[in-house]
Amino acid sequence: MTAVIDVHRDALDVGRSVASRIAEVISARPDAAVGVATGSSPESIYQALAEMVATGLDVGQVQWYALDEYVGLPQGHPESYRAVLDRVLVRPLGLDPATVHVPDGFASDLEQAAAEYDILIRAAQIDIQLLGIGSNGHIGFNEPGSTFTSSTRVTELSESTRRDNARYFAHPDLVPRSCLTQGISTILSAAAIELVAIGANKGPAIAAALEGPTSTRSPASALQSHRHVRVSLDTSASSSLSHDFGAVPLP
Ligand code: PGA
Repeated sequence: MTAVIDVHRDALDVGRSVASRIAEVISARPDAAVGVATGSSPESIYQALAEMVATGLDVGQVQWYALDEYVGLPQGHPESYRAVLDRVLVRPLGLDPATVHVPDGFASDLEQAAAEYDILIRAAQIDIQLLGIGSNGHIGFNEPGSTFTSSTRVTELSESTRRDNARYFAHPDLVPRSCLTQGISTILSAAAIELVAIGANKGPAIAAALEGPTSTRSPASALQSHRHVRVSLDTSASSSLSHDFGAVPLP
């Protein structure tokens, strides 16, 4: 495993640290391709990026690419990842919505939408990809059992992911059962990957991903084969690692 692992005091420090590296990429290449994640883990990163934009970071030429999208929600549903990214990324950073690309979970031909999105991602050559991790070790919606050679596809959510995501819906039965997700090989095509985890419930998945064998039982363990992975954890998400990293203070 060649990943750099940073443990921070809290989610705010994680956000500031990861956002500063995204800003470096954008400063070096103003038309960078940035892969973005949804869920609670990256929220502090987008808040920090919004502050940087307010103080002069120019993101006007950046293209942003989502990892995944639910299938089966009504158009415009507030928990569709298109709508979530509108709230957490487009509006706070003042982006043109056309620069944010999301797999089309509302397409009549989902297989074709998946294939087209895979081509889009590989052509974009993602410079830096943000990733959360599921409590079951998923990355994107690549659930345990996903092959490491998988491409963007239509697939099913595991019951544990549906339970984890039920907090966003009025009733657990309303959590979609299907999704479109970048495959593991699609994710690994990014030049650099930033994996983020916040909270003790992510501890076992992080330990399996970073210290366990590479196995489809831990989709995130596929990251062990990537040359440029940086892992940012709060102290509680690092609690299951065998090595004690200690929290790094931010300047
Ligand atoms: P979370 O989800 O950031 O909301 O914990 C991460 C994931 O499921 O990939």
